[in-house]
Amino acid sequence: MKGILLAGGSGTRLHPMTLASSKQLLPVYDKPMIYYPLSVLMLAGIRDILVISTPADLPQFRRLLGDGERLGVRFTYAEQPRPEGLAQAFHIGRDWLAGEACALALGDNLIFADHLSHLLREASAQPSGATVFAYQVRDPERYGVVSIDGAGRALDIVEKPAVPASNWAVIGLYFYDREVSELAARVTPSARGELEITDLNRMYMQSGRLRVQRLGRGCAWLDAGTPDSLLQAATFVQTIQSRQGMLVGCPEEVAFRMGWIDADRLRAHAHALGKTELGRVLTALADGEIA
Ligand code: G1P
Repeated sequence: MKGILLAGGSGTRLHPMTLASSKQLLPVYDKPMIYYPLSVLMLAGIRDILVISTPADLPQFRRLLGDGERLGVRFTYAEQPRPEGLAQAFHIGRDWLAGEACALALGDNLIFADHLSHLLREASAQPSGATVFAYQVRDPERYGVVSIDGAGRALDIVEKPAVPASNWAVIGLYFYDREVSELAARVTPSARGELEITDLNRMYMQSGRLRVQRLGRGCAWLDAGTPDSLLQAATFVQTIQSRQGMLVGCPEEVAFRMGWIDADRLRAHAHALGKTELGRVLTALADGEIA
């Protein structure tokens, strides 16, 4: 399975912070925002990743992430000239994807859960269909909203409904089978002129192939699209990390835990981070001082 990290858009709700920088490169406490969804794709076992951003911002992502060799993964880059919807990622990535199954992660979503890697591996191991994750929120009208029956099957999925049928928001992480390119090609622009990911998910739902994985109250899902949510996300990461001494959303750590880089390579990453707390924790991990 391949993965797409979508980091486009103009981040207007974060102006002026995003006038000269991509939203997904802004810091969330001690790391660039994109590190968090990148770590999630890696935790799902995905090593072939397409990074999509605007023509202006793409060079900064290349500078940050490189070709991926240092993490034992492979990054490819593609431009999204105009933000015309999340499902456009599959048009842009069509040749690169070459008919494979694919996960899509939004570059501004932060997910934290105890058993996350288990859920991710389960989603990526599905032989067919699509998996979305749902999370209960106070303001579902801001998101894609799914209604679910007692057995966890999707009854309906609607993008930003004025009157939400449930408070289950669909988070920005989606797993699709090999048919995704073909189905995404059939999505037509919505009333707001975008190729909606929700319309792609509806296609899977209508053929009875949409799995909804509910994330319980012990999980955290945060998006970092406004000054308040950016601050909340940063505070969340700081709280967990400083209390536990463990890292949230650190691709170097994930690469090491997945066995894609060895302790020497991890130590080299830690060294490059200088005297930061992040560097200290990675050194401790490489030295076997942290389980
Ligand atoms: C997008 C999707 C929406 C989803 C959300 C998650 O919304 O369209 O269905 O719930 O991401 O972050 P947008 O960020 O484009 O408003």
